[in-house]
Amino acid sequence: MTAPLTGVASAPAAVLCGLGSWVPPRVVTNEELASRLDTDDRWIRSRTGIGSRHLAEQGQATSDLAVEAGRSALRSAGSPHADAVLVATTTPDRLCPATAPLVAARLGLCGAAAFDIAAVCTGFVYGLATACALITSGTARRVLLVGADTYSAVVDPEDRANAVIFGDGAGAVVLRAGHTGEPGAVGPFDLGSDGTHEEMIMIAAGGSRLRTASGEHARRDSHFAMRGKEVYRQAVRRMSDSARAVLAQGGWTVGEVDHLVPHQANLRILHSVADVLELPRERCVTHLEKVGNTGAASIPLALADAARRGVFRPGDRLLLTAFGGGLTWGSSLLTWPDAPV
Ligand code: COA
Repeated sequence: MTAPLTGVASAPAAVLCGLGSWVPPRVVTNEELASRLDTDDRWIRSRTGIGSRHLAEQGQATSDLAVEAGRSALRSAGSPHADAVLVATTTPDRLCPATAPLVAARLGLCGAAAFDIAAVCTGFVYGLATACALITSGTARRVLLVGADTYSAVVDPEDRANAVIFGDGAGAVVLRAGHTGEPGAVGPFDLGSDGTHEEMIMIAAGGSRLRTASGEHARRDSHFAMRGKEVYRQAVRRMSDSARAVLAQGGWTVGEVDHLVPHQANLRILHSVADVLELPRERCVTHLEKVGNTGAASIPLALADAARRGVFRPGDRLLLTAFGGGLTWGSSLLTWPDAPV
């Protein structure tokens, strides 16, 4: 059993008490992509570590995925109740309204505070920080946080660079009011952004800046675009810097980290972050071989997969770190709870 997370044992904290995940049933293998795009399994595996991904059917929206993951997290928490429902997503059902109120209503949580978190692939970590703030301020006692993305709705299926990377899915956690010394306590946090690189990861049209895509770049502007090489470099730098910052805040050494749970961007990025931190790669939790990069869903999906496989033991120390469009980045610490989630 490891020592308390950080600081005064009696300080209020958010404690993990439920975990759930859901991916759409349709599996798309690298071979299937290679049958219609100029790519192949060997290129995709060697550059990204991805073997297959799950894609939503036409008509299946982010709220549909979020409701399934949310329901399974509430079931694992042993109570259908939450005072607040947060949905971290880049692919909401609609521009207006937010997706979270609909998810709350479909989970029987009408009346709960509900709003979306928009921080692209860092959304889950930003959502965790928001959930913790709601709990430690006394505004909520129990929060359902869902990370859910349907990238197939925004990635151009003809764009081989992005079509091979992204998948659809949802992961969710339930956090309850507790104390910093408890296993399951989440925090502290390191969060950051750099909007001068707005164009590095972008869907150009559909907002108030470029209302509708038109002209010769219409197809490009209405789809997800990413400058892969620059994103790669930024992702490694930002996640490792942020991870170091949060470890310093929490008073943990790198050697005390049992599991690094990074945003599942690309296997090479994850291994580079582990290398920069001087953490053995075996301590890096990976799930992207089967699901690809699922945006805001990737950390809770990886947590749920590893928990199912029995990777985490009570009291294990987890370092979560994420990077995404914005640019945004963030990290947090978590001790694995005693009770199964
Ligand atoms: N299959 C085959 N070839 C492909 C391809 C694919 N799916 N996608 C791109 N290529 C080609 C490129 O067109 C390029 O060809 P060229 O040299 O003739 O121009 C070549 O492969 C190399 O492309 P490059 O972009 O240099 O490859 P890379 O090694 O940087 O890998 C990424 C590309 C996208 C996999 C890589 O940049 C990456 O992982 N970036 C980060 C992406 C990510 O994780 N984003 C999420 C962050 S939240």
